[in-house]
Amino acid sequence: MNNIAVASDHGGYDLKTEIIGYLKEMGYAYRDFGCYDKKAVHYPDYAYKVSQAITEKEFECGILICGTGIGMSIAANKVKGIRASLCHDSFSARMTREHNDSNVLTMGGRVIGIGLAKDIVKTWLNTEFSQESRHIVRLQKIDKIYNNC
Ligand code: RB5
Repeated sequence: MNNIAVASDHGGYDLKTEIIGYLKEMGYAYRDFGCYDKKAVHYPDYAYKVSQAITEKEFECGILICGTGIGMSIAANKVKGIRASLCHDSFSARMTREHNDSNVLTMGGRVIGIGLAKDIVKTWLNTEFSQESRHIVRLQKIDKIYNNC
């Protein structure tokens, strides 16, 4: 995946700065939707900005970072078409792309270190959805049951 919408709240700001440096180094296209300093902000505002940019097809996927990654995940998953996954290990990052076709990765800047976070990002961005019919059926069920489509 490429063309990544990135955002954090104050709790995720430091890790986001590191991840943006990593995306630059790896040559990915991205946009930073804020926040732009460590002043306290509200994570749902940033989860919404990134989620909207993805559902409007301006960006292919997103990375959202708050203190725990939990608030960003809860908020982003409220947006129809968003499949946000909180990952603090590389196995989950790979599986959520292969099985869930996750389009938003969330992480907690107060939970994991930079080295692991970079590996999670790299794994998540480089893993394709499996396209296996059992997973497609399950994703269609999510849309039908929860999104009424
Ligand atoms: C902010 O203090 C913190 O609550 C937020 O970053 C996040 O961890 C919420 O889930």
